[in-house]
Amino acid sequence: MADELKLMFVAAARPNFMKVAPLLKAVARRNATGGAGRRFRSCLVHTGQHYDAKMSDIFFTELGIAAPDVNLEVGSGSHAVQTANVMLRFEPVVERERPDWLVVVGDVNSTMACTLVAAKLGLRVAHVEAGLRSYDRQMPEEINRIVTDGLADLLLTPSADADENLRREGAAPERIRLVGNIMIDSLIDNLAAARNSGVLARTGVQAGEFAYATLHRPGNVDDRASLTAIFEEFRRLAARIPVVFPLHPRTRKMLAEFQIPTADTPGLRLVDPVGYHDSLCLAENARLVVTDSGGLQEETTYFRTPCLTLRPNTERPVTITLGSNRLTSLATLRADVEASLAGPARRGVIPPFWEGRTADRVLDALT
Ligand code: UD1
Repeated sequence: MADELKLMFVAAARPNFMKVAPLLKAVARRNATGGAGRRFRSCLVHTGQHYDAKMSDIFFTELGIAAPDVNLEVGSGSHAVQTANVMLRFEPVVERERPDWLVVVGDVNSTMACTLVAAKLGLRVAHVEAGLRSYDRQMPEEINRIVTDGLADLLLTPSADADENLRREGAAPERIRLVGNIMIDSLIDNLAAARNSGVLARTGVQAGEFAYATLHRPGNVDDRASLTAIFEEFRRLAARIPVVFPLHPRTRKMLAEFQIPTADTPGLRLVDPVGYHDSLCLAENARLVVTDSGGLQEETTYFRTPCLTLRPNTERPVTITLGSNRLTSLATLRADVEASLAGPARRGVIPPFWEGRTADRVLDALT
């Protein structure tokens, strides 16, 4: 019998679930088809960084993945509290299992915390989505990326710019492997379900005739003046075309804390966080997306839907150089929206290796 490779995957927050799902499915597929190759044993650890049903459970259901083997239930807290809690609770779990590879994805606090624990135990770590850099250390995720990539043994990148960043930081070439964008594996796998999601009818909008807005970065929503001004711009946009705006818990909390009135906003459809299929359907069918999400920059690039990213920088530059994404700011948002609405409904091209076979390349790299 072929020997077995023990893989431990970590998922923590909303954007992680669609990154681990294709990996878990690829493992199951390879084990089922058997053959002479190596078999895999996998274990999924959910750190519990996101815990609301609409931020976590719904993704397991939609993505068709089994409940996690372990849930560390760390919950929310300051960066130090959350990171420390993940480390404390993860250490005995990973020590007990001693996987051949710890596979972490993305750039959330849990990604960094678990990497740090495993590296100190001398376990091998593979980082899926390595090498992305915004070069903005105000962004908590940038710190997480730098620490994770500094420690991981295998740096699995989504695009050539990420390889270049890692080489510039001195990573040995044999640690770096361009595998493509794992998010797109999930997107393609879920496209049929997304197209059947019914979210357009539920939110009362028509394909090509609405904007899809999301906002959750501390840089945008934790500051009163910034959140007030952005909300005002969304209200203005909603006077032109309906805006579907699902509220992330952080954003909902800050709107309440700053007492920004949300009632009486014609055209602005404020809804609870939407699931993955609804979000894909909205991204594919929107006339325009306005966001500060990393994942949506990539998904709109795949759909070629015009996207305005409300951030001073992006760690995903191919979404701009090749894709349909543009950076915007409070000062330029109004003009950028006008220009976008006046321009073509689709633009850009899909970057190389964003074709749905990244999970297989990840498993190849691990073996
Ligand atoms: C986290 C990630 C961010 C990612 C985002 C996606 C870090 C540093 N940030 O940011 O990279 O883009 O997830 O959503 O890892 N809350 C709930 N229910 C939940 C989870 C959070 O109500 O299930 C509320 C809590 O009030 C919490 C706040 O949202 O304090 C923020 O959650 P947190 O996980 O700290 O950061 P996010 O903003 O979600």
